[in-house]
Amino acid sequence: MSDSYSLLILPGDGIGPEVMVEVVKIIDWFQTHRGMSFEVTQDLVGGAAYDEHGSPCADETLEKALSVDAVLLGAVGGPQYDSLDFSVKPERGLLRLRKELDLFANLRPAQCFDALADFSSLKREVVAGLDILIVRELTSGVYFGEPRGIHADDNNPDNEGGRVGVNTQRYTSGEIRRVARSAFDLAGQRSGRVCSMEKANVMESGILWREEVQWVHDNEYPDIELSHMYADNGAMQLVRNPRQFDVIVTDNLFGDILSDAAAMLTGSLGMLPSASLGAKMENGRPRAMYEPVHGSAPDIAGQGKANPIACILSFAMALRYSFDRGDAAADLERAVERVLADGVRTADLMGPDGGTPVSTAEMGDRIVAALAAG
Ligand code: NAI
Ligand code: MG
Repeated sequence: MSDSYSLLILPGDGIGPEVMVEVVKIIDWFQTHRGMSFEVTQDLVGGAAYDEHGSPCADETLEKALSVDAVLLGAVGGPQYDSLDFSVKPERGLLRLRKELDLFANLRPAQCFDALADFSSLKREVVAGLDILIVRELTSGVYFGEPRGIHADDNNPDNEGGRVGVNTQRYTSGEIRRVARSAFDLAGQRSGRVCSMEKANVMESGILWREEVQWVHDNEYPDIELSHMYADNGAMQLVRNPRQFDVIVTDNLFGDILSDAAAMLTGSLGMLPSASLGAKMENGRPRAMYEPVHGSAPDIAGQGKANPIACILSFAMALRYSFDRGDAAADLERAVERVLADGVRTADLMGPDGGTPVSTAEMGDRIVAALAAG
């Protein structure tokens, strides 16, 4: 693969543009000092795109997203857009990108930096050194299955209120197999272990999930260690002893909940990156969008208070999963770790231990300096 990478940057709204400025500093550093070459294009998404084009993701933006190696997104939304029609809300821009790129595997790492272990809601002994990856199926399951809706429950006189709400958990074997492959590929780059979670004890879609994940394992990834767990037990185990896991693969609904629970094992929302991957393109790279888990944080926007680390670690994921530069990703993650170990703290990370308070820009500069220090 060439050492030239095309990247579409969509800063979005609120603190999105503020944290993205810090990522651009990091990109510049890798270009100048590591001989990597990024073709970076920037565009609007979310409310910023609505203000300009009347649409939260313009057709030209979508075309660009489809033509690059990876998309890096800040955050979208804000109170000034709350009254907009549903079809043009900032979040629709995100959904359009995810859908058109068919990003079916959502990767949510939960990594506990030693310097922040006391921010966890769990004891330091339980979370120190934690480094797990939840792979959530993102494009199917109960959030999309038909039939759905709220109907009159006509033939049921015993139903007080008279209505019924319906959603359908539906998975095809193909949908399960493709996300399972993503999880096995990722495990191959890590510890080589996958735990698949469903409720095969009470759901047919869970039985199919278990069978298909096992099939992909046996036929294509026999060297990866695969285990299965009921998702409710998985929730308990994540809180009891999260370090027993490496890669967890699960469906859309369980993944939504389990990944949020796992996130809190590690502390601040300002630290959490994510990636969403789709099918491999002709150049062998997966379709991909990287973004922090947090939103546009209107309460602190424009004040230099935002923690840029979630967005910076999202870029580290791009280095690893889109650009095949796990070495550069690890250097960047180590730089973040070192800065945190030095007590450098944005406001969201200020704890009882004190530390050196810094702005968004200072945090970015410190991380660049730590990269340079090697
Ligand atoms: P939020 O994640 O924007 O903020 C929640 C809390 O965490 C706030 O107190 C905020 O100040 C803090 N926070 C978030 N990121 C931070 C960072 N990097 N550094 C320091 N503190 C940080 O979620 P909220 O308040 O529910 O939503 C605000 C807006 O963002 C809404 O319009 C919502 O729709 C949108 N949103 C967008 C998402 C996205 O673009 N992927 C995801 C979640 C919400
Ligand atoms: Mg959620």
